[in-house]
Amino acid sequence: MTSAAAFRHAMRHVPTGVTVVTTLKEGEPRGITVNAFASVSLEPPSLLICINREARSYLFISTSRVFCVNVLAGDQRRLAERFSGKVRDRQFAGVEYAIDATGAPVLGGAIAHFDCEVSHEHQIGSHSILVGRVLSCNARAGSPLGYFNGGFHDFGIHVD
Ligand SMILES: Cc1cc2nc3c(=O)[nH]c(=O)nc-3n(C[C@H](O)[C@H](O)[C@H](O)COP(=O)(O)O)c2cc1C
Repeated sequence: MTSAAAFRHAMRHVPTGVTVVTTLKEGEPRGITVNAFASVSLEPPSLLICINREARSYLFISTSRVFCVNVLAGDQRRLAERFSGKVRDRQFAGVEYAIDATGAPVLGGAIAHFDCEVSHEHQIGSHSILVGRVLSCNARAGSPLGYFNGGFHDFGIHVD
């Protein structure tokens, strides 16, 4: 088995998009920056996210059983930083959002969102794979935010 350091080093060479996964905590909005996100199935429409079970957001998602994946636009780097631990309380102060099917926040300016209810959970090591059944989704024109080699980058490629 390889070392954690070798694994981390190799993963730095893998480009991804950046999302903020939102949920609710007793009606209060909560979010976490996540790049472990993938499509799973078309029928039924399903996706997965991987969440560290020590993250506070994990507790909130596993309690509420709902989450919304917000795919960030290239100019939303500050939101990615905000939801990766920089702001611990009143996370959504000054953040514009709406509500779709589940009640989890849909972030203004995100280029796509997928509003889900948890259908499966698989615990693997430190993380849980949470599979979400997509109840509603939408997209808008824009360029995505990317993550590569430990840094954020605007893809600079627009999709309609
Ligand atoms: C670009 C980026 C991607 C991340 N992806 C994930 C992820 O896929 N899963 C995860 O559990 N944490 C991920 N994190 C770390 C969480 O955002 C971070 O640990 C967060 O502070 C947890 O917050 P909480 O404990 O308040 O829920 C990522 C962080 C960054 C900057």
